[in-house]
Amino acid sequence: MIFRTHYCGLIDKQDAGQEVAIVGWIHRRRDHGGVIFFDMRDETGLVQVVYNPDNKETFALAESCRAEFVLLSKGIVRERPEGTINPDLASGEIEIIASELTILNTSLALPFQLDEHASVGEETRLKYRFLDLRREAMQSNIRLRAKVSHSLRNVLNEEGFLEIETPLLTKATPEGARDYLVPSRTYPGSFFALPQSPQLFKQTLMASGFEKYYQFARCFRDEDLRADRQPEFTQIDIESAFVDANDIINTVTRMISKVFKETLEVDLEDFPHLTYAEAIEKYGTDKPDLRNPLELVEVKDLFINSDFKVFSEPANSDDSRIAALCIPMGGSLSRKKIDDYTDFVGTFGAKGLAYIKVDDPSKGKDGLQSPIIKFIDESIIEKLLVSLDVKEGDIVFFGAGKRKVVNDSLSALRDLVAQDLDLLTSEWAPCWIVDFPMFEIASSGLITPLHHPFTAPRCSIKELIKDPLLALTDAYDIVLNGTELGGGSVRIHDHEMQSAVLKILNINQDEAEEKFGFLILALKHGCPPHAGLAIGFDRLIMLMTKSDSIRDVIAFPKTQTASCLMTNAPGPASSEQLDELHLKIQDLNKET
Ligand code: AMO
Ligand code: AMP
Repeated sequence: MIFRTHYCGLIDKQDAGQEVAIVGWIHRRRDHGGVIFFDMRDETGLVQVVYNPDNKETFALAESCRAEFVLLSKGIVRERPEGTINPDLASGEIEIIASELTILNTSLALPFQLDEHASVGEETRLKYRFLDLRREAMQSNIRLRAKVSHSLRNVLNEEGFLEIETPLLTKATPEGARDYLVPSRTYPGSFFALPQSPQLFKQTLMASGFEKYYQFARCFRDEDLRADRQPEFTQIDIESAFVDANDIINTVTRMISKVFKETLEVDLEDFPHLTYAEAIEKYGTDKPDLRNPLELVEVKDLFINSDFKVFSEPANSDDSRIAALCIPMGGSLSRKKIDDYTDFVGTFGAKGLAYIKVDDPSKGKDGLQSPIIKFIDESIIEKLLVSLDVKEGDIVFFGAGKRKVVNDSLSALRDLVAQDLDLLTSEWAPCWIVDFPMFEIASSGLITPLHHPFTAPRCSIKELIKDPLLALTDAYDIVLNGTELGGGSVRIHDHEMQSAVLKILNINQDEAEEKFGFLILALKHGCPPHAGLAIGFDRLIMLMTKSDSIRDVIAFPKTQTASCLMTNAPGPASSEQLDELHLKIQDLNKET
């Protein structure tokens, strides 16, 4: 039994004169001319403990202590002498004059100082995660995560959602990534897949008569990792029967607003809705950062008859666009900066970055500086200036070419310019993107669903088959500050429509039966209309804590190459385990 009477960070002036016992870690240790000071730390914060040499035994023990030793200290609380008050510390007006000290545990020398994390490499942080997590920033992230989880559960429970768990050992769910497979011992040669999402189960739950489901669902995706992706992550997964897209959008808007208010005291006022087509046209992306006031303007039509080939070719091609990005008062950007931006858009495949600096718009061509105006007719320039509504001091960048290249490069440039010129106008800008197309042609050249194959097209089966790429859906994404926070849709509840979609995706009946037979069977047995969504919980916390990496909001994350540096997972299996699982490992040194 370890006895503390008080928490370090909660002791204050009111406790002056009292005898207290605290437990915790030595956060900082200072030796001041024969007096030893420890900043002791527990969950609640820090308190200063003073060891005077007149208490010989305790002082000698204190001298032997190092950073991160775990101590039980007893002593009297006293108000700090004038001039030694620390306003940065909640307990900064007092200190404890120690009378007794028990060392509860020692610590090896630390691989890094806990209060100087900036200089620590992430590999070291991840290997010594137990130390890294002691740091204030990490403690605060993990605590906020718990608080948000609590608040979300409260909101969902209040709204009548029921928490139901779905299996982790299951069959593949198509969400576009590779599966993590688990070999079966009892069925030699067969494998479970860890779920990429609980999509199929939550739809099956709707067919089972539960009308409002939620789950904090663990999802597993073996995909290329980025700063906002982990192979193992958590979704706040919801599904409702007898609802439409707006019901889900409204529920989730209420939920996110309430959670921001409760945990960060932030009022998220407006959640504008943009169609997918609008978002792509105005921002070049379906994840626009609406804190950024810059917009793209389509100017393709102006160049159809131009002699300037760089623009007239895309102007006359269906899968191309010409977009202008006008930056108010951007005329002061240096030549060097413009060259850097040209290199930057080049990384997205753009062949150049035409620009016009506007010195005086009233002078027409003569009031402009640009490497391209000599190639462009006066009449086109005039129309361009009017449609872009440029002002003195502005600069306009142009992207011309294949839609994807222009969109990818100019949307990234839009973010970069806003960052460089400090243009963001607010702290938080959520929005909904709606009216997604059902399918797109992926880089592989194959037709693929924009969300997943269980999203309901808005058209009839006949129309869908006639031109799948025209079909729109009631799918919706919630985007916050340029990050996709979550997405969902109204689902297919008619088995014939489901079969038609799978057929368009070239999934034949046998494969459909093998992969999703149970869902199609459920659709055939009175499955109600339903819709849902999943929010990336880790991403939500990453944004709420303003962290640069998703790893900073997960207690034990994986590296960019999907390993755990603390446990050294994944690791080898013994030959007995492999035999039991009927597995043989190929000679890994052999060329495959
Ligand atoms: P989706 O695949 O869009 O939809 O995932 C929903 C949200 O989960 C988060 N997310 C991730 N977070 C961290 N690491 C990852 N690797 C990762 N992948 C996705 C994102 C994303 O917006 N079943 C559907 C939802 C539905 O239709 O109800 C689904 O999983 O924030
Ligand atoms: P060029 O004819 O390639 O010398 O290009 C003339 C100007 O147009 C230069 O300023 C280029 O940066 C710009 N440019 C070339 N290709 C493109 C493109 N695809 N999109 C936008 N600007 C371009």
